[in-house]
Amino acid sequence: MTRGEPAIEVFTDAPALATRVGARLLERLASVQTTGRVPCIVLTGGSIADELHRELVRLTPTSDVDWSRIDIWWGDERFVPADSSDRNARQAAEALLDHVDVDPDRVHEMPSSEGGGDLTQAAAAYAAEVRAHGAGAFDVVMLGVGPDGHVASLFPGLPALDVHDDIAVGVRDSPKPPPERISLTFAALNRTRATWFLVTGAEKADAVARAHGGADVHEVPATGAHGSEETVWFLDEAAAARLPT
Ligand code: 6PG
Repeated sequence: MTRGEPAIEVFTDAPALATRVGARLLERLASVQTTGRVPCIVLTGGSIADELHRELVRLTPTSDVDWSRIDIWWGDERFVPADSSDRNARQAAEALLDHVDVDPDRVHEMPSSEGGGDLTQAAAAYAAEVRAHGAGAFDVVMLGVGPDGHVASLFPGLPALDVHDDIAVGVRDSPKPPPERISLTFAALNRTRATWFLVTGAEKADAVARAHGGADVHEVPATGAHGSEETVWFLDEAAAARLPT
């Protein structure tokens, strides 16, 4: 599979998608670990990510994965206090990371707004953390997709879409609340072997069809994300409904 040929896998519903993606992720992580390398994954937020995270907890006892040897990153984060339920990191902790045996030193949360920190400096700090770990060579980047086609916090029409010389950016005017966020750029997100889109729900069908119909990245940001070895769109039937048959 090459970068130009994204694969599409369609599932009946979100639970079926979460079960298959969960199993596939655990297989991938265990396979990397057998080589002695520590795999790196990028988590996303949103409802399908939450469902996947819970499924990973359910599937972990029957897998060979050692969660203490996985580097865990985020594609984006809401720039809010650390204990806010809006935080992708908090959601991932509650659904997944508090229930598996992670090494806290390998869980790379994006900075919060705690203490009134500056958004630009917070994004720069996360970029420095990614760089300190080898500037990113992710195994799997997972991305939810919004009805507007956004991925991470890269929204249609925003300047962050065109930042190619940095790893992370501060986003001040997100059309989806909260307005202040940190996002990896495409330059960073695309330093990955695999990009997996996780998309469920009828409200995504238009964005999915446009992404596969050659839309420009400024209109449908999801078109800007791809893996060096594989790009897979995991869809439920509702999200796939407007793809050509
Ligand atoms: C955010 C969300 C968002 C989410 C997509 C898909 O930061 O606002 O995390 O980017 O990933 O909107 O969300 P669903 O899976 O809930 O549709």
